[in-house]
Amino acid sequence: MNEQEKKNAALEAVSYIKNGQIIGLGTGSTAYFAILRIGELVTNGLAIKAIPTSEETKRLATELGIPLIDVNDVNAIDVTIDGADEFTPGLQLIKGGGGALLREKIVASITKQQIIIADSSKKVEKLGAFKVPVEVIPFASNAVSLKLKSLNGAVALRTKNNAVYLTDQQNYILDVDFGLIDNPTALAKALDHITGIVEHGLFIDMASMVICGQGEKTETYEVSKIS
Ligand code: A5P
Repeated sequence: MNEQEKKNAALEAVSYIKNGQIIGLGTGSTAYFAILRIGELVTNGLAIKAIPTSEETKRLATELGIPLIDVNDVNAIDVTIDGADEFTPGLQLIKGGGGALLREKIVASITKQQIIIADSSKKVEKLGAFKVPVEVIPFASNAVSLKLKSLNGAVALRTKNNAVYLTDQQNYILDVDFGLIDNPTALAKALDHITGIVEHGLFIDMASMVICGQGEKTETYEVSKIS
């Protein structure tokens, strides 16, 4: 059922894309469905240029014939469609379960409409059951771990296939359990100030909308428009 929820959310998100736009392509098993659909639309004549958020997504987009553009050749991205590990109805996110948080956050930071797609298991009232991924330069991993412990985080160095996991930028990831997070904005600010952290997976006030698959339907959460 979750696969169908992911797909439904992805298809709805792709309907926001217009001809001629620059599109950010997210990373992960939910973004995958959006990229597949964008590939079909491109084959049928949709003219867009895309910026992938990971090497994995770049490979998939290239296979599907989606035209890519270098992120350094654009000043803004019209729409980005990306997944999340957790989201709140207030649109705060934890991302980086797939290790792509740095490029994802850079892309989000220059995106006009950031659409997050998710299955219903990702919806939470408070962030923090999912550990916060923190990307660190390898030289700083012990120094940063000590600082994270002083913020009451339980730190685990991410591994894959019995080796230390390396991001696309050849950095390490510390997965940090802070428990349920009362004030994600304050925690994000504290993490922003630790020397050696390249980026972290708390995405605060970056999403324009979350489209969440819910059974056969989807639910949409948006930034409330105060006129
Ligand atoms: C990649 O680093 C992540 O930020 C993903 O966007 C996130 O982990 C969601 O992935 P799934 O869609 O595979 O759950």
